[in-house]
Parts: sequence; structure tokens; C-alpha cells
Amino acid sequence: MGPFQSLPSLEDYEKLSDEKLVDRILGHKQRMGAELIILGHHYQRARVTQLSDFVGDSYGLSQKAATAGGTNIVFCGVRFMAESAAILCKPNQKVYHPDPDAGCPMADMANMDQVTQAWRTISQWSGPDQKIIPVTYMNSTADLKAFCGHKEGIVCTSSNAHKTFEWAFERGKKIFFFPDEHLGRNTGKKMGMDGDDIVVWDPHKDQGGLDEVKVARARVIVWAGHCPVHKEFKARDIKHVRKYYPGCKVVVHPECDQETVGLADASGSTDFIVKYVAAQAPGSIIFVGTEVNLVTRLQKMHPDRKVFKLQRSLCLTMYQINLANLCFTIEHIPRLEPVVLSDEVKGGARVALDRMLALH
Ligand code: 13P
Ligand code: SF4
Repeated sequence: MGPFQSLPSLEDYEKLSDEKLVDRILGHKQRMGAELIILGHHYQRARVTQLSDFVGDSYGLSQKAATAGGTNIVFCGVRFMAESAAILCKPNQKVYHPDPDAGCPMADMANMDQVTQAWRTISQWSGPDQKIIPVTYMNSTADLKAFCGHKEGIVCTSSNAHKTFEWAFERGKKIFFFPDEHLGRNTGKKMGMDGDDIVVWDPHKDQGGLDEVKVARARVIVWAGHCPVHKEFKARDIKHVRKYYPGCKVVVHPECDQETVGLADASGSTDFIVKYVAAQAPGSIIFVGTEVNLVTRLQKMHPDRKVFKLQRSLCLTMYQINLANLCFTIEHIPRLEPVVLSDEVKGGARVALDRMLALH
């Protein structure tokens, strides 16, 4: 390249064919060996999962980030996942995110100011003998994870929510769970809670839409947040498929609402769903209520089973990661800005994440 030619931009990569991009990425993987680790979430498009060294759910990916070797981790998933990897990796490692704008809409439904305000009100209402333990879903900003770390709380994922709730009840009387109302409700329900046991704090309502009496009675206060992708799966979809496919199995993600999860045969993290489909007998009919890229992959992996989408629901921000920005990222290491967090946030969030990792 001559001295007056500029470096190729991301737009230049977007003009390349998939074959060319795959070739280049494979070449870098070979050349960089263990120095380059590509981590991919189950919702990534097939082209990306095929190039990933490890594909998993949020929990598995955080474990991998905490134990992986190499110096460069390229994280194909949404921002909170890349941030968690940057918090858990070793000091000599750097985490790169192919699209720093790829966030999770659910994680953006709770911010630090709102949570701090809610915490103050709930704590005042509860009194000193009603200790509250904050539990944040992995799908949250890093400063909220740090908030939990500083306040004797913990992080959970959809694969260990039950265990973290038990952990929290060993240490306090109530749980304040954010930002996913449905995972909170579904976990509470699995633990036998009902009615007034679970109340919702809505940050858009005065005093969260709650009062002292309701909070005093409650065991879990859940945040009014949700996943727009899993909101698409409804109980009526399950009733509909059961009518036309008697004997079929239905498995959904616990970010679906309580009625939908209640009607399904099983619910669990993305990794649980992968294992659930694999465990069904050849010839089975299985409807899957989760993001479409994972369901399409399961259909390809199990041609001897009939795997169907309960609905077609795409996570647009997961889909923002593609071959072009993945190749661009790898070829611009180390000139690109890695995922960086302040030491204060990193320290607090690490405490809450380590508490979760120690539970397994
Ligand atoms: P998992 O932890 O089950 O992979 O879920 C992550 C997620 O974002 C689901 O919407
Ligand atoms: Fe967030 Fe839902 Fe996408 Fe998962 S599927 S990353 S919770 S928007």
C-alpha cells in the first residue's frame, strides 16, 4: 500500500464476499494460533458460530473468558457479554467486540440512577431486619454488576438463577432482581412463590408503582424489564401447536413470560435448549421458543428430528455481528480499542461475577 492510500475501512470489508472473509479469518486463526480466541454466543449467525473456538450460553462464555489462554479474545455476542469477558479475563488479555454498538435492549431497561433510587426506597420500606440482596441478571450493564458486588449481591444467568436465588435467601430476607421481570418471576415460581410473594418495581411509575405494605409482604421485587425477542412467544402459540401436533415437545427460554413457560415441557438457558433437543428421540417433533438463529442451527444439527420455531424471532443486536466486522476486528488488532471499563466498575463487577462462578 502506497503512503497516500488510507487503511481499508469497515465499508471496504462489507464489499467482500462471505467466502473471501471466511478464508481471511481462517488464515488469521491459523497464523495467530492460541493468541486469538473467538467466543460466540448461541444466537450468532451460522457463519460466525462456525468460526468460533467456543460457542455457548452466557454462563459458559463467562467461564471460558475466565479460563481462556491467549492474549486476544474476540467476543461475538452483545455488549454485556463482551464486558463480562473483559472483567473476567486475565490482566494480559484484551477483549475486542466486533460491533461496540451491539447492545442488549433488555440490559438497557435498567440504569444505575434508577436502580439506586429504587434500592433506597425499598430499603427504607423494608427496615434493617429485612435484609435485601440485589441480584442482577447477566444481561445488565457492568456498573449494575458492580452495584451488586458492593452491596453483598450477585450476578446470575438463566442457567443458575435458581441457585443464585437460594444463595441470596441464605444471606437475606428479600431479593431485588433486575432487569428481567420474567426470569425473576419464573425462578420465584419454580421455588414455590406465588401471589404477593413477587412484586414488580416499574421505574416509570411513581415509587415504582409499589408501597411499603406490598414490599413488606414480598420475597422478590422484580424490575419491569423484558426481552423484546422472547416477548414474541405466547402461551397461545403453545396451545396452537399442541392442537395440531399432539405429543410434540415444547422448550422455551425463561425470558418468556410465566404463562408461556408454564405451558412448555421445559425451559432453560440456550445451552439447556441445545441439550434438550439433542436428548429427544429421533422422529420427535420439538417446538423451540428462542432466537431464530439458534433454532435454525438446531434444525440443521438434527435432521432426524422435526425441530420447529414456535415463532420467528430475531435478536437484531446479536445479528449486528457479521463476517465483515469480525474480519475487520481481527485484522485491526491491536490498533482497535478493546473493551475498557474503569477499575472501580471492574473491581465491583468482578466480585459479583466471581460469587456466581463459585456456585457451580
Ligand atoms: P443464555 O444465558 O441462555 O445464553 O441467554 C442469553 C440471552 O441473551 C438470552 O436472550
Ligand atoms: Fe438481549 Fe433478548 Fe437479544 Fe438476549 S435475545 S441479547 S435478552 S434482546
